[in-house]
Amino acid sequence: MERPTATVRHVASERIGFGIDIGGTGMKAAPVDLTTGELAADRYRIDTPRPAEPAAMAEIVVELVRHFDWTGPVGVALPTIVRNGVVRSAANISDTWIGVDADALFTGLLGQEVAVLNDADAAGVAEMRYGAGRGRDGVVIVLTFGTGIGSGFFVDGRLAANSELGHLEIDGFDAEVRAAASARQRENLSWDDWATERVQRYLDVVVALFSPALVIVGGGASKKPDRWVPLLDVDTEIAVASMANNAGIVGAALMAPGGPGASGALVD
Ligand code: BGC
Repeated sequence: MERPTATVRHVASERIGFGIDIGGTGMKAAPVDLTTGELAADRYRIDTPRPAEPAAMAEIVVELVRHFDWTGPVGVALPTIVRNGVVRSAANISDTWIGVDADALFTGLLGQEVAVLNDADAAGVAEMRYGAGRGRDGVVIVLTFGTGIGSGFFVDGRLAANSELGHLEIDGFDAEVRAAASARQRENLSWDDWATERVQRYLDVVVALFSPALVIVGGGASKKPDRWVPLLDVDTEIAVASMANNAGIVGAALMAPGGPGASGALVD
């Protein structure tokens, strides 16, 4: 667990929102300045409990919110398909999540308004509003390379939620099993081999299927972009996510009830 470096009392205002990014390995939260897209205080992270089941994770959601004494609407990003607040898949967390109304669960425990969305969709909306996708029209695909592969799919700045391009079947494999950042670690691949064989093949398929104007690569692996992004030879523009690993938190805050992203208009 990261130790808190600051505890700041934040009361919801038009300018400050609050986001939580739940991943297969960590659960991270921070208040967010919605004018700039920057965190308004140091983020707070707690390891994702194992097994990664709803009750244990919901307790941590409460702890994350209490840590900041936050009292306004909350956006929560989950590494699953989320339709109308209900979880519809579970690739890197317990499948006891499937069918859970996460919106109702968190709203009930927090007593605050909550919006729940997919983690890569959240990272994507942050990149589109404040980061590498700012002002970009046409098809833009944001891909997060971490425990799995997440995707945020945008057309003229509007999100088509739950695109789940990490689960394309390529060469007989669920794509993320071979091309996620976790595959590099699990299989002890060099950055070169991972980039030129795994990620390259994956991106070739994504580009052939959707002809995006821009692909933004993010997630944990984008902390060291020099190790792999220059090795890619892809027939479209590639940009590195510019919000580091905070995009999920920022995007969740943007999409919280009453937040600027809640209406679906992300690009002004
Ligand atoms: C999940 C996605 C998620 C991605 C990144 C995938 O395994 O299916 O919903 O966005 O991992 O966390």
